[in-house]
Amino acid sequence: MNSSQQDPTVRDVFDSELDRAHSLAATGEGLSVTDEITVRPTRRAAHQQRSGRPHQNQEFVMSPHAFGLTPAQTATVLGAACRAPSLLNTQPWRFEIGSDHISVHLDDDRVLPGTDPDGREARISCGAALFNLKAALVDLGLSVRVRVHTHVEAGPLARIEVTGRRAPLRQDRELAQAIWRRATNRRPFSDISIPLDALHDLRAAASTEGATLTFAGAPSLHSRIRYLSNSAARTQLEDARWLGEWTAWTGRDHTLDGVPSTAAGLPPAAEDLWDLKDFGLPDRRPRMPGKEYEHTPLIAVLGTWDDHASSRLRAGQALQRVLLTATVHGISASFLSQLIEVPTARDALRDMLKGPPEPQVVLRIGYGTPVPPTPRRPFTDCLHIPAGDARDTAQDEPGHPPSSPQPFDRAPRR
Ligand SMILES: Cc1cc2nc3c(=O)[nH]c(=O)nc-3n(C[C@H](O)[C@H](O)[C@H](O)COP(=O)(O)O)c2cc1C
Repeated sequence: MNSSQQDPTVRDVFDSELDRAHSLAATGEGLSVTDEITVRPTRRAAHQQRSGRPHQNQEFVMSPHAFGLTPAQTATVLGAACRAPSLLNTQPWRFEIGSDHISVHLDDDRVLPGTDPDGREARISCGAALFNLKAALVDLGLSVRVRVHTHVEAGPLARIEVTGRRAPLRQDRELAQAIWRRATNRRPFSDISIPLDALHDLRAAASTEGATLTFAGAPSLHSRIRYLSNSAARTQLEDARWLGEWTAWTGRDHTLDGVPSTAAGLPPAAEDLWDLKDFGLPDRRPRMPGKEYEHTPLIAVLGTWDDHASSRLRAGQALQRVLLTATVHGISASFLSQLIEVPTARDALRDMLKGPPEPQVVLRIGYGTPVPPTPRRPFTDCLHIPAGDARDTAQDEPGHPPSSPQPFDRAPRR
């Protein structure tokens, strides 16, 4: 028997645990501390940690001791973080696990210089992952504190620490469960209007995270944004760097990152009022007659009060709370990021909205039909464990610390 048969890599163990965590999350059962697995760190992994960048090709090792989580709980929490939306599904995050913290880093290698030259959208994506991380920890009954780092050049974007225990509220549980169901929906939405209480909840979701959500309801504002959006989309098509990145990151049907063609909307047609960008393969059949996009999509602009690097991270957290709240309400969303990516369009949008908030994300919102999930890299590909926390099998007793969070049977209704 070779060594890999005897001793599956951590990635193997975690991938199967993650599958199980997903199905548990889908059935709402949650994780139990009896779902314990033993992770055996190796001497080699500790060496890898010291000798260079720790991701890729790993027999990667993690100490399962962050906050006393079991490996299965850690798999759920980090798997949830990786389900966040990201620009072209680049997944530009890395996570570092220490015994008393999990921190979120920007993976500079995954920032797209032609589309996102100042890393705004990469930071927004990391903010969405941070929100998921937080929501998954809260769902496990932990109360957490997030420290956002304002240093732009180096170090983590944010660090999560646990401050105590608290039974999750019903709303917390709903948001955490929605992480696994949320998906960007580029297909047509129905013309049914979203009720006012749901719109209120979406706006409240943004403001809970320190951001604003503005609905472009007035017909004149709506049509000016449409004009701006379509013209920004044309501008991007003339930009060779943007086009190169678009081509490289879309239509990727056999990779764990990038946007697969299954995530596309309908093929564009001459009668479409909005340019929603075509994520489909070029040789598809044209659209069936009668398949149309909604005439007046609801457009929402998520903004922050200033535009520092940390505001972009905040925008990402707010974005994810808005998207998960929408999912809980059965509402879908897609993005119109040409309005953010083309600088003149972003400036014009800010002027149109006539307010101090800085536009960070533009969403199209409505009731859609279900769409398949897009793939993700295994979270073990996004992990960094400080060398001091990678342990040696020969010295470690298998097991987990006794203080692992116990699942709450039922969220108290408050
Ligand atoms: C900052 C940001 C910008 C995005 N811009 C667009 C966009 O302009 N058009 C679009 O269709 N999707 C956009 N997306 C959605 C991503 O393509 C999507 O999140 C990713 O492919 C993963 O798929 P999922 O959201 O279905 O999980 C954006 C996502 C983020 C976080």
